[in-house]
Amino acid sequence: MSEVRVGLIGLGTIGTGVARILLEQTELMARRLGKRVRLTAVCDRDLSHDITHHRGLDLSGVRLVHDAAKMLAADDIDIIVELIGGYEPARSLVVEAIGHGKHIVTANKALIAKHGEELFTLAAQHGTAIGFEAAIGGGIPCLKALREGLAANAITSVHGILNGTCNYILTRMEDEGADYHDVLRDAQTLGYAEADPTFDVEGVDTAHKLAILGAMAFGSTIDFASVHTEGIAAITPDDIASASELGFRIKLLGIAKPHGDGVEMRVHPTLVPIESQIAQVSDSYNAVLISGDFVENTMYYGRGAGERPTASAVVADILDIARALPDGIAHLAPPMGFPAAHRLNLATTPIAEVECEYFLRLMVQDEPGSIAAITQILADHRISLEAVIQKARHQTQAVPIVLLTHQTREGNLNTAISRIAALESVQGEAMILRIERFGA
Ligand code: HSE
Repeated sequence: MSEVRVGLIGLGTIGTGVARILLEQTELMARRLGKRVRLTAVCDRDLSHDITHHRGLDLSGVRLVHDAAKMLAADDIDIIVELIGGYEPARSLVVEAIGHGKHIVTANKALIAKHGEELFTLAAQHGTAIGFEAAIGGGIPCLKALREGLAANAITSVHGILNGTCNYILTRMEDEGADYHDVLRDAQTLGYAEADPTFDVEGVDTAHKLAILGAMAFGSTIDFASVHTEGIAAITPDDIASASELGFRIKLLGIAKPHGDGVEMRVHPTLVPIESQIAQVSDSYNAVLISGDFVENTMYYGRGAGERPTASAVVADILDIARALPDGIAHLAPPMGFPAAHRLNLATTPIAEVECEYFLRLMVQDEPGSIAAITQILADHRISLEAVIQKARHQTQAVPIVLLTHQTREGNLNTAISRIAALESVQGEAMILRIERFGA
């Protein structure tokens, strides 16, 4: 049987899972491919026996390397798997490996979101493949579905719960009234969170993933910098409870949809109807809802983070490339689903142009006429209301008022909100959350 050889850089959570699959599933992989996939080298700063033994890995027979630069040109490696994460040195290592004709598999969403276009161009010049299924949705094969399975469709929208850490935090805050910081610590212990968890909770990780998904959906170039990004840190248990009373659950969504000649690309906490499928996605699970003009709604669901699910997606990419070798990768789908010459530069719609229904929470002095003053300003801006709820009564302190609006342009809402914020009875900043209804 012929053999395809893999070099793995980064033996952290995901790298451990990849090594485990490559060492334990050898017969299954050989049956699927009719050729063997062999882990020939592993690189990490700490490859002591204690560490690898503790993780249950038997790396005897695998070359152990401490300096990644030494693997990039190695003759006994066909595919380099980059699992160190972050922008650098990942980018430089991948650029050099492609220069040596190596195929690349990575789980690094930050790398692809920011430097993907450069890497795809370079890889095309060298006739090498780049697989990044594991960058989005952990173990869910959503890129394969979008790129290949849905190729007959013009995509009409993408909605994703793309960050396991945030979904885990929001779920536990809703179910147990748990404290945000305690739950974030648990997510770190469970291996869901990024090395810097602010990337998770501020929505940056979701924005990395959405930038890639949206570009693939609409055949456009990746434009991470233009994704409107908000995180979950300001969401309070009271907001979650108010949303629930009104028939909604709060999820951090990545949303991509056409808008005029451009495309909306936005990441923010979103109210979704409690009966919707996406509202049922809890804990660290991810889901991607992709709609196409012929297929209609499709949803992909599974574990979005963690060692074994993410490693499953990494190895699927390894197998795709291994199947194509040694003849070359001409028959693999282009990394972003469209040949480079047919990709567009779609402009991202400014958030002020987006139209949504909104959930507003204001802190208001409980005195006669204060709600009337607020609703008058909204009426002046032709923003109609679906619901108004005063959450408590207090003679001296401000109380939360929750309003649900009908559809309006965000720029219009913001003008109204700045007038409302200037009212004497209104205190602090308004919490503004967008509402999405699926297929409505
Ligand atoms: N930190 C990410 C998450 C890991 O929580 O989803 C998977 O990309």
